[in-house]
Amino acid sequence: MMDKKVIKLLNEQINKELYSAYLYLDFSNFLASKGLDGFENWYKIQAQEERDHAMLFYQYLLNNNVEVELGAIEKPVREYKDVMGVLKAGLKHEEYVTSLIHTIYDAAQKAKDFRTLQFLDWFVKEQGEEETNANDLITKMELFGSDPKGLYMLNNELKARAYSAPSLVL
Ligand code: FEO
Repeated sequence: MMDKKVIKLLNEQINKELYSAYLYLDFSNFLASKGLDGFENWYKIQAQEERDHAMLFYQYLLNNNVEVELGAIEKPVREYKDVMGVLKAGLKHEEYVTSLIHTIYDAAQKAKDFRTLQFLDWFVKEQGEEETNANDLITKMELFGSDPKGLYMLNNELKARAYSAPSLVL
């Protein structure tokens, strides 16, 4: 039987990942309204990845004979006014998600739940990649975003991002 605190945190993470998907869908929605279809595409795919993350937590709990309890998903609040604001909000959110994953990791370690630790290893690595991607977007925007041609090229680069399923399979 899994530790109650670990179960609670894993269950809550489903909601946090679905909220991430919802938040990024609204980023995508905002960026579409600015005519930046590449940035729109990038965050739409990011939203798909977050849904995948939620499904991995969901499936992991089911695989361990735990019944999931789904909660309400918060409405995303727009705390930004421009593209750079979106990118910075994205980085801040990923740093927050990293802290959540680390909290679950810590609880699993205390409970000597080695199976959950192994499951979470993928997410620890994934969060490192998520933060790098968010940081890279900010750097590129700083370098090229103020020049219309630079922004056009960057938008085209982001339009090429294609969805790929997570490498973790349960
Ligand atoms: Fe599921 Fe972007 O963290």
